[in-house]
Amino acid sequence: MTELMAALTDTWDAENSWKLSTYEAAGGYEGLRRALRTDPADLVQMVKDSGLRGRGGAGFPTGMKWGFLPEPDGGPRYLVVNADESEPGTCKDIPLMMASPQHLVEGVAITSFAIGCHHAFIYVRGEVLHVYRRLLAAVREAYAAGHLGRDIHGSGYDLEVTVHAGAGAYICGEETALLDSLEGRRGQPRLKPPFPAVAGLYARPTVVNNVESIASVPGIVTHGADWFSSLGTEKSSGHGLFSLSGHVTRPGQYEAPLGITLRELLDQAGGVRAGHQLKFWTPGGSSTPIFTHEHLDVPLDYESVGAAGSMLGTRALQIFDETTCVVRAVSRWTDFYAHESCGKCTPCREGTYWLKQILHRIEAGDGEETDLDLLLDLCDNILGRAFCALGDGATSPITSSIQYFRTEYEAHLGGRGCPFDPARSTLFD
Ligand code: NAI
Repeated sequence: MTELMAALTDTWDAENSWKLSTYEAAGGYEGLRRALRTDPADLVQMVKDSGLRGRGGAGFPTGMKWGFLPEPDGGPRYLVVNADESEPGTCKDIPLMMASPQHLVEGVAITSFAIGCHHAFIYVRGEVLHVYRRLLAAVREAYAAGHLGRDIHGSGYDLEVTVHAGAGAYICGEETALLDSLEGRRGQPRLKPPFPAVAGLYARPTVVNNVESIASVPGIVTHGADWFSSLGTEKSSGHGLFSLSGHVTRPGQYEAPLGITLRELLDQAGGVRAGHQLKFWTPGGSSTPIFTHEHLDVPLDYESVGAAGSMLGTRALQIFDETTCVVRAVSRWTDFYAHESCGKCTPCREGTYWLKQILHRIEAGDGEETDLDLLLDLCDNILGRAFCALGDGATSPITSSIQYFRTEYEAHLGGRGCPFDPARSTLFD
């Protein structure tokens, strides 16, 4: 990988990588200095030209989202960074914020300047106190160095940044639930439209972007839109973090251009754990339909993963070998969705609970022959009928695992229960 391609991770292994001095020694805040000399509209155009797509999972074009903000009316407009990473398997933003928080803070300053925002918020999960503390320290260091605050680098531009810790709810990663939570209410999704770009925080125009999206902005400003768009594929440009976890020899974060395949990533990560074979994996966290060994060569870009029947999502590649019971894995994910359903809409609130009950009885050997079709019917009644993406996400692992491993589900029925030894898998107790 070239130095430029490793733009997000290239200081991660440095001593005190999280310090401002380390970041500045590697050229950090050059992007902000350049941005402050640039017309904000040109910065928005630069991000559009780069082809950067939202790294939180949905892949919506970032520059286009910024461009949706209405014309200034003299009132405030906000940037809110979604740092509420909670998807099972998704673990890229937290390492980024721990290893190189200034990447995010610089991105916040540039983005805020580009969209005309004078107060930005970073909403971080409540459970990850160490990340909250690290972000607070990073923001304080940036203020002290004049990268934030009043008259930044003599430009006349003012920016306040607030780091806010949530209370730990998966639903608060949904952007409108996050805004409700930030406003002090119980986090539940709002009806869209209006999108936050039009009526977001305190009903004002708001850009909500993922941590990695914002952290990608300094690289684009420093190295240019052409540099970024020359990486990756035509429609999925740039580089990003791929998180490998589970039955892999060297789990961790691998930064690579979009379009790399799991086979290539596994080569870097030492392969599936010794003596075992790949059975199934998630391309983008547990909300994306699972893949099998047949999909090892699918380019990990939005279009190719979609064409192969899943979603790129958050590039959370959870690897499961042949010792893992797919029903058990899916059942665990379903427990999560049932627990985290906010309860606002019936298909998700009731549906995830029913899915959980059925999967538990299948896993325990109490399943009936009709249960697989019942599961699929329930999924069909949740998909597209829930208020937000949580309900849809809950159905993905179930429908895709029945598609690829129906016989394994059937092996659990008729009083037989799980044929796998959970101790061999090592992933479940
Ligand atoms: P979405 O496709 O509805 O929206 C994506 C973004 O584009 C949002 O910010 C939305 O406001 C904006 N947008 C879309 N259409 C717009 C329009 N016409 N005008 C203005 N803005 C517009 O997707 P959603 O529901 O926000 O996110 C779903 C994704 O979240 C899933 O694909 C999943 O991969 C990901 N996810 C990530 C998690 C994590 O921990 N990082 C957790 C759960 C899901």
